[in-house]
Amino acid sequence: MTNSAFPTTLPSPRCRPSKQKSWLNRAEKHRWSVNQLRHYMAHAPKPPEEPEPIIKYVSKRREKVERFGDSLMIHGDCREILPQLKLKCEFDIVSDPPYGQNFDYGGEYKDVGGEPYVELLRCLLPYRRALMHFPEEIHRCFVPLFGPAEEIYTVVYRSNTHRQTRQWCFWGVDVDFGRVRQPPQNFNDKRVYDLVRAYDWTDEFNVVKNVSKEKTVHPCPLPVAMMERILSFICAKTICDPFAGSGTTCLAALNKGRRFIGIEQSAKFFDTACERLERAMRAAAA
Ligand SMILES: C[S@@+](CC[C@H](N)C(=O)[O-])C[C@H]1O[C@@H](n2cnc3c(N)ncnc32)[C@H](O)[C@@H]1O
Repeated sequence: MTNSAFPTTLPSPRCRPSKQKSWLNRAEKHRWSVNQLRHYMAHAPKPPEEPEPIIKYVSKRREKVERFGDSLMIHGDCREILPQLKLKCEFDIVSDPPYGQNFDYGGEYKDVGGEPYVELLRCLLPYRRALMHFPEEIHRCFVPLFGPAEEIYTVVYRSNTHRQTRQWCFWGVDVDFGRVRQPPQNFNDKRVYDLVRAYDWTDEFNVVKNVSKEKTVHPCPLPVAMMERILSFICAKTICDPFAGSGTTCLAALNKGRRFIGIEQSAKFFDTACERLERAMRAAAA
């Protein structure tokens, strides 16, 4: 049996959720028949898509925070900032941490080694992470702390310096090497015609030399192209670099249309990162 209060017209499929709710309340009040409800449900508007999550950074202290659209650069110590990040979205850590060599770069950046270094890295334990280092340090510091990496991507720099080999290690990160296609290495092999998935190593990148256009005040910046390559494999939409330095990871994230959160302890490097990001955003808008 149908009730006379049943509306003859259905709410527009685009009506607000609050309006939808009031229609359903009416249905309940007036005891719509099963068929009437089915009819309504068939035409009911789809729930609106979840709005894009917004990065919300909550800090008890007042660190300097610069916003780049929906992304952030934060000046401060990542050991204090990471636990305070209240995000409405998941993120992967992608970082080139300090080297743990007790090396004094002069001024802003003195690297720590030994136990303090392991303690510094410990703040990354709760997160999915992709970290780069020399193979020896990976065995010495990363593996005891994080366990063996699930995936490894090797970068062999074109450089005359010693220790050109670096490795990106992935723990818990969704990595898809099939997202990058490369020409086959062996052109004489007739079985290989198509581009193949990225190899798990590359020798395409130069270190950022002092004469390079990419050179900044930072003593050891990474090439942007290399960071773009690494991000191409990583599926996460939001990337966090807690040791952001001159902001190369963040810049690559910007270029690749990902959200980023960069954290850097040094005021000088933080400013450099912000300047690079601002320049890139201005260039993209022009
Ligand atoms: C190897 S560098 C990263 C360089 C960066 N990939 C780039 O391309 O410029 C490591 C950076 O971590 C920063 N750092 C060291 N300890 C930190 C901490 N506790 N919190 C935030 N940043 C830190 C250093 O100041 C340094 O800039």
